[in-house]
Amino acid sequence: MIILGIESSCDETAAAVLADGRTLLANVVNSQIDVHAKYGGVVPELASRHHLVNIYPVVEEALERAGTRLEDIDGIAVTQGPGLIGSLLVGFSFAKALSHARGIPYVGVDHLSGHMLSVFLSEAPPPFPYIALVASGGHSSIFLVNAPDDCRLLGRSRDDAAGEAFDKVAKLLGLPYPGGPHISRAAAAGDPSAISFPRSWLEKDSLDFSFSGVKTAVANHVHRCRGKGLEPDIAAICASFQEAVVEVLCEKTMLAAKRHGVDNVVAAGGVAANPRLRELLAARCHDLGRSFFPVPPAFCTDNAAMIALAGFFLFPTRKTLRLDTDVFSRSRFTQ
Ligand code: KG4
Ligand code: ZN
Repeated sequence: MIILGIESSCDETAAAVLADGRTLLANVVNSQIDVHAKYGGVVPELASRHHLVNIYPVVEEALERAGTRLEDIDGIAVTQGPGLIGSLLVGFSFAKALSHARGIPYVGVDHLSGHMLSVFLSEAPPPFPYIALVASGGHSSIFLVNAPDDCRLLGRSRDDAAGEAFDKVAKLLGLPYPGGPHISRAAAAGDPSAISFPRSWLEKDSLDFSFSGVKTAVANHVHRCRGKGLEPDIAAICASFQEAVVEVLCEKTMLAAKRHGVDNVVAAGGVAANPRLRELLAARCHDLGRSFFPVPPAFCTDNAAMIALAGFFLFPTRKTLRLDTDVFSRSRFTQ
């Protein structure tokens, strides 16, 4: 079965072609980072407009790179939500039109499903069940994944998502958008114990997250430095902030695995590309006798390969959508 995946939920226009759920024939990601960088974050109206310009060439390029024609495509998997409505509508309407015009069935994929299942794009995917930490710019959640279409939300962020905290701290420090990769690069030269930023554990045993406190603590630290006429030590701040965030992400994920007696641990979403988070999760899994299954970094950030893959799992059970189906802004998994 050959699936064309389409993703346009935020600021990446992406298309991928996946054969038999295993062989990735093409994976094209057109990022709008340059468009939004000067505003320090995604501007929804600009994102929609750029998706409109990019969607056709991106899909065409994916088909071309894969060496497939539309006649070879058995199904279209497209992100239905959550995300920016204007952005989602571009990819979703494109998929609908293609489906209608060429008679190819299409299914809508929850973006979070895509992240949770992205580990199946790695060489050695885990068996079910597994605990999935999904940490991105829009979400920080922990799921118990029992099967491709059967997952349970165990914990979620009560305020900023982890990636959002990275992006906001980067902005505060004058680093470019998106902040995550810039912070992790700067952190490599800093001492993670230089500044003691707060870890927000919330109530005892809670699997929820809260990252607004650590973000405010960084802001206060920077203002204090500048108030004394000192230039803040960017590397030390990045390393200490990163440590505070990844420690909480890691420990809560390990607690979820323990509480539910699950041996397999997965980290997905843009923040899971963070080398320190990967290192810490690998070490903690090793110490506690659990297995860590890292998602390849290229599939942590938004892409259409994970949407095609989720579609591959869903096609046998999910009815193909009608043409009047709409996009959604909130995931049913986090409600
Ligand atoms: O999954 P993703 O591409 O988009 C959403 O679904 O939100 O995640 C993007 C987020 C951004 O906030 C970005 O700063 C963060 O992932 N990110 C990172 C790293 N690479 C990307 N955060 C920390 N360390 C990284 N190396
Ligand atoms: Zn995402």
